Amino acid sequence: MLFLFSLQFSYSQETLAQRNERMEWWREARFGMFIHWGVYAQMAGVYNGHEQKRGGAEWIMNRMKVPVADYRKMAKDFNPVNYNPDEWVRMAKDAGMKYIVITAKHHDGFALFDSKASDWNVVDATPYGKDLLKPLAEACKKYGMKLGFYYSQAQDWNNPGGSAARKEMREGWANPDSALIDAYTKEHNGHWDPWQTTKTFDQYINEVAVPQVKEILSNYGDISVLWWDTPTNMTDDAALKLQEALKLQPKIITNDRLKRPNFSGDTKTPEQKIPTQAELDGMDWETCMTMNGTWGFRTSDDKWKSTETLIRNLCDIASKGGNYLLNVGPKPDGTFPQESIDRLKSIGDWMKVNGEAIYASERSPLAPLSWGRCTMKVEKGKTFLYFSVFEWPADGKLVVSGLSNKVVSAKLLANGVKLRTLPATAGLTISLPAKAPDAIASVIKVEVKGVVADAYATKGKMKSGELD
Ligand code: GLC
Repeated sequence: MLFLFSLQFSYSQETLAQRNERMEWWREARFGMFIHWGVYAQMAGVYNGHEQKRGGAEWIMNRMKVPVADYRKMAKDFNPVNYNPDEWVRMAKDAGMKYIVITAKHHDGFALFDSKASDWNVVDATPYGKDLLKPLAEACKKYGMKLGFYYSQAQDWNNPGGSAARKEMREGWANPDSALIDAYTKEHNGHWDPWQTTKTFDQYINEVAVPQVKEILSNYGDISVLWWDTPTNMTDDAALKLQEALKLQPKIITNDRLKRPNFSGDTKTPEQKIPTQAELDGMDWETCMTMNGTWGFRTSDDKWKSTETLIRNLCDIASKGGNYLLNVGPKPDGTFPQESIDRLKSIGDWMKVNGEAIYASERSPLAPLSWGRCTMKVEKGKTFLYFSVFEWPADGKLVVSGLSNKVVSAKLLANGVKLRTLPATAGLTISLPAKAPDAIASVIKVEVKGVVADAYATKGKMKSGELD
């Protein structure tokens, strides 16, 4: 165990109490907005008339092997005149989201902020010419929204020396020179343009990544989250330098993607999936997910998840003690796709009625429920269970298996209607009205006496980032 301890790098020797205090807002928030935006939105999944085959549209430069000069030309048309960060933050807030994480710089290296460390940024490289993060930070402050930055610390396809994960040409389009290009990327550690390797990784880290992380942690007020991504070819040395910069925001929360396995950060980040209860139990984790099939905007992607799926995902994730970071990929003009706006609105309507079951809740102590999900709150010695019912029982009898505690009260959260309960051999039976208040998920709030037995209790389970 001691060996493992010495390998783990942590930038602050905080106590468990200090850590819990730093993580509190995040654990209570449960729901945030991820924003993937940049020059790639301009291409929207198409290059030279070819539709990108695989992966998110934010990967178009790599998947389609776009030469640096071509890609940079794209920025000359990036002019988001309809960008209205006040409206973005209001939509997130109305959806019930408590924090926003935006791609300050994604793998294509394009900085959405005014950077002195590289001219490949929105101020120097586009006709728009203004910092996009500054007004967003102001709007977040105005509406009390926590702000976080996604920063691609290792991969950077436009600042020489940055890493490039190797992707085969066939994942982009049927390029007649595929064999040649694949041979080149194999030879050049994933890079496809000679310009990309005119500097070393260390030069990129020292001259671009570290200075830029310092810029985004110094110039935009309180930053609550730093969201690293894809530690391709990361070194301990580079990770230590980047981690050092975090001292500019002592309360900041980071994820587990700076460098694996020895820079574990604060939060686990399952992607596009919801873990089982056992997988991440007792850890701080956050599922990040797209509303359709791409993180960055893509015209042709219409694989939109239904509002029902998104709301039930939120219930499922909260019932397992996790956070939901739901993505929006804005269009090149700065507006959100209508499909995203509609889903945010509907989720917000649900959260206005049922948010109490989600915010500051704990994971369910009960074994999985076939008809829905459960979250719990213990406040001032009182225990409350929130049942989010997806499948409303036709016979009006909802059976809660495994719950033997004495019931103090039961009611529908939507309208306060009191419900009768009956202890049963299997657990508890709750009598319900014929019609569900909400077709997607109706919440029943039940107060019970005493502590609810924990179906998952495993002695000495360790929280992520906690060191023995
Ligand atoms: C994946 C995608 C990347 C995206 C990230 C968000 O790693 O490849 O583009 O930013 O997920 O979690």
